[in-house]
Amino acid sequence: MKGLILAGGSGSRLHPLTKTTSKQLLAVYDKPMIYYPLATLLFFGIRDVLVISTPADTPSIERLLGDGGRLGISIEYAIQKRPDGIAQAFMIGETFIGGEDVALVLGDNIFYLGDHVHRYIDNRAPGEATIFSYYVPDPERFGIIEFNKNLKVVSIEEKPRSPKSNQAIVGLYFYPGDVSEKVGTLRPSKRGELEITDLNNLYLREGRLRAIPLERGNVWFDAGTHDNLIEASLFVQIMEKRQGLIIGCIEEIAYRQGFITRRDLSSLAVDMGANGYRDYLMRVCGEDDGG
Ligand code: TTP
Repeated sequence: MKGLILAGGSGSRLHPLTKTTSKQLLAVYDKPMIYYPLATLLFFGIRDVLVISTPADTPSIERLLGDGGRLGISIEYAIQKRPDGIAQAFMIGETFIGGEDVALVLGDNIFYLGDHVHRYIDNRAPGEATIFSYYVPDPERFGIIEFNKNLKVVSIEEKPRSPKSNQAIVGLYFYPGDVSEKVGTLRPSKRGELEITDLNNLYLREGRLRAIPLERGNVWFDAGTHDNLIEASLFVQIMEKRQGLIIGCIEEIAYRQGFITRRDLSSLAVDMGANGYRDYLMRVCGEDDGG
């Protein structure tokens, strides 16, 4: 499966923080925000990644992540000239996707998922799109799913005035290989964007959309406002301190997924500055030594 990270946008809700830098390069506690969506793709076993960002920010993101070789994966880059909508990612990435199944994660979405979430993707039916939802107290701000009592999707509405539920669609979507073709049939919305909600509605109408409410134990943040940004940082700090595990540690996930060897992980650690992140990677290497 291919993976896209959509990491452009204008970040206007975070001004002035994002006037001269990408939202996705801001710190979420101890690492740049984009580490988290990349970690999410790695968690699902995805090794072919396309990062899409603005003309101004793509070079900085590329300097940070490189070609992925050190993580045993491939990272390519593409530019979105203007923030013309989330669904546009599948047009920009059409050649990269090459008709395969594809996951899209938004660059400002932070997930803390249990291992069981893999199952939903591993067991997906061919040709079916899979999306996830999460409880929100302010559904007017999100794409909202109405479920029936068998958890089948009844409707999806973008920023509804009278929301039919509190289940917001989160920024992690899995589509079959025809997604770029489907986006090609969409028209821009009133706000001039190719809407992911319109894409999801196409799959819904064809009976090819499965939506899964994330259960207790999974955590999701959209880090796009000042408050959400600091809340996400505090969550990561608390979890890391209490559990002694780093969240969104792309080097560790690459190692645990078998993309790199223990020796590779150890040299990544050595190349780092002397800090807690390096100590952690050394510890992960040591644990498998029985040390
Ligand atoms: P948003 O948070 O909806 O938009 P934004 O990042 O431009 O922020 P603001 O509303 O404060 O101006 O976008 C969600 C994510 O998707 C974010 O990581 C940016 C990304 N995105 C794009 O890269 N291109 C787009 O066209 C859109 C709509 C979003």
